[in-house]
Amino acid sequence: MTDQFLMCAPHHFDVAYVINPWMEGNVAHCRQDEALCQWNALTQLIGRVADVESIVPARGLPDMVFTANAGMVLADKFILSRFRHAERTGEEAHFARWFDEHGFTVLRLPPDVHFEGAGDALLDREEALLWLGYGHRSSQACVPLLEELLDIEVEPLRLADERFYHLDTCFCPLEGGYLMYYPPAFDLASQARIQARLPAERRIPVSDADALEFACNAVNSARHIFLNRASITLAGELQSRGFTVWQTPLTEFMKAGGSAKCLTLKLTEEHPMLSRDVLGEKSVA
Ligand code: ARG
Repeated sequence: MTDQFLMCAPHHFDVAYVINPWMEGNVAHCRQDEALCQWNALTQLIGRVADVESIVPARGLPDMVFTANAGMVLADKFILSRFRHAERTGEEAHFARWFDEHGFTVLRLPPDVHFEGAGDALLDREEALLWLGYGHRSSQACVPLLEELLDIEVEPLRLADERFYHLDTCFCPLEGGYLMYYPPAFDLASQARIQARLPAERRIPVSDADALEFACNAVNSARHIFLNRASITLAGELQSRGFTVWQTPLTEFMKAGGSAKCLTLKLTEEHPMLSRDVLGEKSVA
């Protein structure tokens, strides 16, 4: 099946407030024309290998372009985000309507629980496992709620560096069961849990410099990886594992604390258990 990604054009994108360290000093310093060029380039690149769906951007919601934070998808279920910051809560109604109109069952978490969607909740690409980053945006209380709603094991990871405030800024599960990540973004117990769950040959730790270029904020579709920038070393490591790396500058969005992955939300997320059954049936036939 061809992957589908939801994106939102940056017609109302801006750095209009400060809710993460990247935005500091950047209020009103975003070049809208350049942002549109960068977004178009990313959209065209992804469009070569996957389908891109779009949601109409809403005036007054400058961060709506970061569709990863709309919520999280698993099969036909969509768990709507509950943003921590008042500046972003206005996005919820727009995303709820889009997913409802596109045939998803929209599920909501209790009002006192914060959840920032596929910014913090990332499916493993090999195991039936959902990784959840907490400590900055999503609440730890999401863990049992997501396990019940989605019938999947959830592994919580505590984020420890405020520059990497969403899990997808420092952690990227890849096809084939690989993981590209920035270990110092996690507390020591979480680093140990990642190591316990994944053998060393599946882990691709990135350098400080790559992490600060948002290399972990990558879109993965089949064997393609789209990201802002990767060092020669990191690109080589990904290529040696069979990936094609596409680099496209996203500097205007980095002023708001986001890059390639934040600008997309994968809509075609099969439940790992179910997809494995389907593969099993096919191989028997
Ligand atoms: N300015 C946005 C915020 O702070 C950026 C969101 C980036 N999204 C992401 N999935 N990391 O919420």
